Amino acid sequence: MKKKRKKNPKTDFPWSLNRKLNQRKDQGTLRSLKSSALNLVDFSSNDYLGCSHNERITEYALDKLKAYPHHFHGATGSRLLTGNYPMIEDFESYLEYYYNSDTATLFNSGYDANLGLLSSIGQRQNLILYDELSHASIRDGIGLSKAKAYKFQHNDLKDLELKLIKFRDQFDTIYVITEHVFSMDGDSADVDDLVQLCSEFGVYLILDEAHSVGTISKKGCANFNGEIFARIITFGKSFGSHGAAVLGTDQLKQYLINFAKSFIYTTAPSVETTARNWAAHLYLESSSVEYETLRSNIEYFQNQIEANHLFDFFIKSQSAIQSCVIRGNEKVRSISSQLQQEGFDVRPILSPTVPKGKERLRFCLHAYNSEEEIKTVLKSLANHLIQKENE
Ligand SMILES: Cc1ncc(COP(=O)(O)O)c(C=O)c1O
Repeated sequence: MKKKRKKNPKTDFPWSLNRKLNQRKDQGTLRSLKSSALNLVDFSSNDYLGCSHNERITEYALDKLKAYPHHFHGATGSRLLTGNYPMIEDFESYLEYYYNSDTATLFNSGYDANLGLLSSIGQRQNLILYDELSHASIRDGIGLSKAKAYKFQHNDLKDLELKLIKFRDQFDTIYVITEHVFSMDGDSADVDDLVQLCSEFGVYLILDEAHSVGTISKKGCANFNGEIFARIITFGKSFGSHGAAVLGTDQLKQYLINFAKSFIYTTAPSVETTARNWAAHLYLESSSVEYETLRSNIEYFQNQIEANHLFDFFIKSQSAIQSCVIRGNEKVRSISSQLQQEGFDVRPILSPTVPKGKERLRFCLHAYNSEEEIKTVLKSLANHLIQKENE
């Protein structure tokens, strides 16, 4: 007998998918797209150094496009077919110099880079240990791999060590992956100790530098060449564009070109994007003004946290990401919309993006934020928190 399929009579949208959307609506966690608020003070974009609207970078990018006579826009094909144009190879060579790495391999995004790298390296009989707060792209890459995987407690090297002791004889290869600066908490991994621990156990360290380059140092962990198996650099944050690179050895590059599906089966980054990313690097290499201003804004933000007695709300962070934990989606949403009405674009990060009870306002700091803006937004935040406590 034929099985009767359930159909949603109103929309013809599959019933099981509709149920999931309705669950989100019922829990107040349904995501939706909103236009970027252009007239608000930016405390939410990842454009930490203002590269997305830097006219010098636009000029450098146009110079690059003129210097390489292409007969096309875009990329025309994947890297292994027609998309391996001269500028893309030269940009990779430049990245090798800039980040002090043997090789650099470009991907279309940080998501693609993590997916391609982790899914392809993780073989049966391999173990991947990852920080429990790792980004979705890391988890998805691990999920697509054949390796066994366990998480270790956030930034807890003792827990990582215990897991290494437990598993070291059970797997032929072990990878450890973590983020240099965590995207939701803004705190940092202790790279010196991690490198040492991984070297003691003879395991391979992978470091996602999406939020560290340009915020806590200009070149990320360039001084650890040879000690870190792979570093993932992204261009959608401090470089104000999009795209990414995996840094590592010649053999790693060869491996990615052969086995990383998100490298192989996709159109290469366009010439325009490559020119922009190269130009943004050249700018950051030649100028420290924005980087230094960002660093001083981070320090000022922390002074103002103290001044407004907000210390207990904020996760300790030296980076451009400063998270104020306020339990409950409704409460965070409400304070965020009050701040928006006052002219500040501060976004709520809700569960399930972060665990329940860890809902937060995430402040992303920029070189172009003024001290006055920082002072005013934190004063206002403190007032809203007091008000909420009294409700
Ligand atoms: C830690 C981390 N890794 C990777 C990514 C993905 O990078 P992209 O936005 O270039 O896809 C992000 C983006 O939010 C991230 O925060």
